[in-house]
Amino acid sequence: MSRTIIVSNRLPTKVQRTEDVLTFQSSEGGLATGLGSIYRQEGNVWVGWPGLFVEDTAEEEYVREQLRQDSMVPVFLTEAEIHDFYEGFSNSTLWPTFHYFPQYATYEPAHWAAYVAVNEKFCQAVLAQAGPDDTIWVHDYQLLLLPEMLRKARPEATIGFFLHIPFPSYELIRVLPWAKELMAGVLGADLIGFHTFGFMRHFLSAVSHLLGFTAQNGRLEAGDRSILVDTFPMGIDYDRYVEAAASDTAREHEATYRQVLGNTRAILSIDRLDYSKGIAQRLRAFELLLLRYPEWREQVSLIMVVVPSRDQVAQYAALKEEIDELVGRINSAYRTMRWTPIHYFYRSFPLDELASLYRLAEVALVTPMRDGMNLVAKEFVASKADHRGVLILSERAGAARELSDALIINPTDMHQLTEAMHDALVMPEPEQIRRMTAMQKLVGQYNVFAWTKLFMDRLAFSKHRQHTLDTE
Ligand code: F6P
Repeated sequence: MSRTIIVSNRLPTKVQRTEDVLTFQSSEGGLATGLGSIYRQEGNVWVGWPGLFVEDTAEEEYVREQLRQDSMVPVFLTEAEIHDFYEGFSNSTLWPTFHYFPQYATYEPAHWAAYVAVNEKFCQAVLAQAGPDDTIWVHDYQLLLLPEMLRKARPEATIGFFLHIPFPSYELIRVLPWAKELMAGVLGADLIGFHTFGFMRHFLSAVSHLLGFTAQNGRLEAGDRSILVDTFPMGIDYDRYVEAAASDTAREHEATYRQVLGNTRAILSIDRLDYSKGIAQRLRAFELLLLRYPEWREQVSLIMVVVPSRDQVAQYAALKEEIDELVGRINSAYRTMRWTPIHYFYRSFPLDELASLYRLAEVALVTPMRDGMNLVAKEFVASKADHRGVLILSERAGAARELSDALIINPTDMHQLTEAMHDALVMPEPEQIRRMTAMQKLVGQYNVFAWTKLFMDRLAFSKHRQHTLDTE
């Protein structure tokens, strides 16, 4: 029987060390939920990094055994690999380049060497699981070389690759000293997927410039192989958010927050700490709202949740300081005895508390400078049971291609963002309901399970096609 192996940098369970005790925390993320039905099937597994440095072989064995019980296979990284592969090449070279922040990118040969070595490490871990005809689905920018490595070792395997972040213009890709190797790495797959048509177009242009392979009708002819390239906009587990928002716990949390806020209306902002998310720009636009429209003072608060992330990377630590300063400045300038302009939380929230914030907020600000998809936009939409609320969405988030009933803005245009906040706060209810209902229909239909099925079906088709071409 053919098996399916999922591979991503992180496993859907995060192992953490708290006072010498290891804890196992299941991810509530969309990918983990969407692929849950696949990797937990008999014989299938998910291969990835458990998220911490494991100190000795006894600890390794313990972690391996615990994860095995939930169909996961850990790839352990050394401290040097975490530094050079994860914080280095993945998040200081690829991440800024792919998100149009080349000024933040570093080009360290040692980081590249670690990237090659860790992709090879993942390859060995997958090969230890995979038979010759198995299906392997590789995820994201940390593993761009893996499809080709796997193809060399398992020429008959069915290999899929999905990129969760933007794919930028060739003009950015060409700056990378290792651009050709990276493109060739991805081409080991039978099917390559992106969130949007724009990302796919940039990828095909880069492949054509760097490797000379061209595509027609979504088919890339690369030497003796024919590769399918397509778009698969990722969704969320819609029903889970509907249920979480309707739960008693979410209602109780909402009532508590409501007491604190009184009659003040809430604008919500939730992100991982990242310069690509436009958090500082958003704060400046909120400050401008208070300056330009004094009538909103004491009437509106910004609830800002920033989830800690990659704080060992210099740009992230600097951004954290910038946000702290901006929040301090705005709050101290405008605060009154009965009103706090910004309620700022630097931590993650469990799903039921998030759901209560989504319920509470009348406006959600999802204004990244660049984003592959952005699932917060979809989670907000799913949580609005009364169909009221306004989504302000960056034109440069993948989600903007689908959620055209949001207020779509250019996140670098601070004035436009400020005006959009004002427009959202005065939008008549019938218009809110019309826009929200249209978005709910779409997000409910193209959920993460539909996304997974579409990709897996297309992957099976790509292999079937390849076999047909081989035997012609
Ligand atoms: O969106 C890209 C991504 O790498 C996700 O796969 C991941 O969940 C998120 O960013 C957080 O990144 P990290 O694994 O570095 O914490």
